[in-house]
Amino acid sequence: MDGNGRWAEQRSLPRTAGHTAGEENLAEVVRACVARGVGWLTVFGFSTENWVRPRAEVRHILGLHERLFGRLEELNENNVRVRWIGRPFDGPEARTPKYVQRAIRRAINDTSSNTGMTLTVAFDYGGRAELMAAVRTLRSTTGTVDADRLAAHLYDPELPDVDVLVRTSGEMRVSNFLLWQAAGAAIHFTDASWPDFDADDLDRALDLVR
Ligand code: IPE
Ligand code: MG
Repeated sequence: MDGNGRWAEQRSLPRTAGHTAGEENLAEVVRACVARGVGWLTVFGFSTENWVRPRAEVRHILGLHERLFGRLEELNENNVRVRWIGRPFDGPEARTPKYVQRAIRRAINDTSSNTGMTLTVAFDYGGRAELMAAVRTLRSTTGTVDADRLAAHLYDPELPDVDVLVRTSGEMRVSNFLLWQAAGAAIHFTDASWPDFDADDLDRALDLVR
């Protein structure tokens, strides 16, 4: 969900205000997706590369994830099931603080019986890290790496292939997102910053696959 910083800079606001607006817009976009019958929405909240940002900005973004995973009433009202993909909390490179871990676990647990849309949040996620982890597991267990086994060892093997990938903020890059799952995805590029991404933009994206 790119462009929070630029959205804020255009309004002479601190970057953190852009991230806050982005989290609020995500809640809107989730509702819009539910209204359109989208089955799976996966959002890139925080990447393995984002930890190098200024500490105060990282702290703010972590707090926003606690808020987003904490929107349980809203998620349950909309029959949304929450999932998470990212580097495992007990792995050697794990950096996710305990309070965010708790919010993630709780959201997954408290929305698990919802049957509508699945909202997957990629947090401390990187496509290459995901693929490398799968390969490492396969090599140390079965010793055989093939496409089916690899797909079965991704962070969330149930996550379907991506139909349409949205990139906001005028960037024309994939940036290490769902490298395996998005192999055949249509891509919707939009100049809108993430906080400005709206239902019309969503419809243009969905038009690519309707
Ligand atoms: C996306 O907004 C939020 C995260 C990466 C966490 P950016 O922070 O990338 O916003 P820009 O690219 O500076 O506009
Ligand atoms: Mg950016």
